[in-house]
Amino acid sequence: MRTKLIMAAAASALLGCRGTTSEKPPVHLNPNMDFQWRVDRQEPNEFFKDKRGMRPLGAETVVHGSLAADEPSHVHLHEGLVDGKFTDALPAGMTLDAAMLERGHDRFQIYCVPCHNGSGRGDGIVVRRGGPAPQSYMEPRLRAYPIGRIVNVLRHGKNNMASYADQIPVADRWAIATYVRALQIAGAPSDDLAKGGN
Ligand code: HEC
Repeated sequence: MRTKLIMAAAASALLGCRGTTSEKPPVHLNPNMDFQWRVDRQEPNEFFKDKRGMRPLGAETVVHGSLAADEPSHVHLHEGLVDGKFTDALPAGMTLDAAMLERGHDRFQIYCVPCHNGSGRGDGIVVRRGGPAPQSYMEPRLRAYPIGRIVNVLRHGKNNMASYADQIPVADRWAIATYVRALQIAGAPSDDLAKGGN
């Protein structure tokens, strides 16, 4: 009799709610990250100065799929190519000035010096510790590279050198490439300088 009572109590505890509805949210024993704060559409948000929860798009936002990757200006900017040839011309909106070279110098110190060294001769600390050695930028083959070709190397990498497209924004890649060219001119053998540099 007693066991029957206990079993009946247990059964009603387990099955008691079946078939009945409730407005209350279900019991959630382990919420983890199921319940989080979020911004609803049109909702104000005190965090931002303009108090808009829906943030305006950044000025250079490009709708996914809308980028005309084969447009000449895009090919020039990203691949360093004009009419299928590597170019020395800077893309629209860029001017070669002290600020651009400064920027290139600054980024070069961060991204390139470990292997190429500050002089561009390819004997940076990584190489001295056993990394693969790049050629010196002063080699005639590399001195003949148009700036666009250096930009192209930064986008795609080359053999042992990885691509820097994910780390360095494209405008900085051009700044670095112009700085590499400046290094090449500065490091040119004197007979070349007598001919007016590279
Ligand atoms: C981790 C080492 C490393 C870093 C960092 C590095 N490079 Fe290189 N780079 C190499 C090596 C190695 C090569 C030679 C690639 C080959 O042909 O095998 C090379 C080759 C090059 C070349 C010649 C490519 C060619 O066509 O022969 C250029 C130009 C160049 N690097 C520019 C840069 C610039 C600019 C940076 C900085 C943004 C940079 N590299 C950062 C290792 C590096």
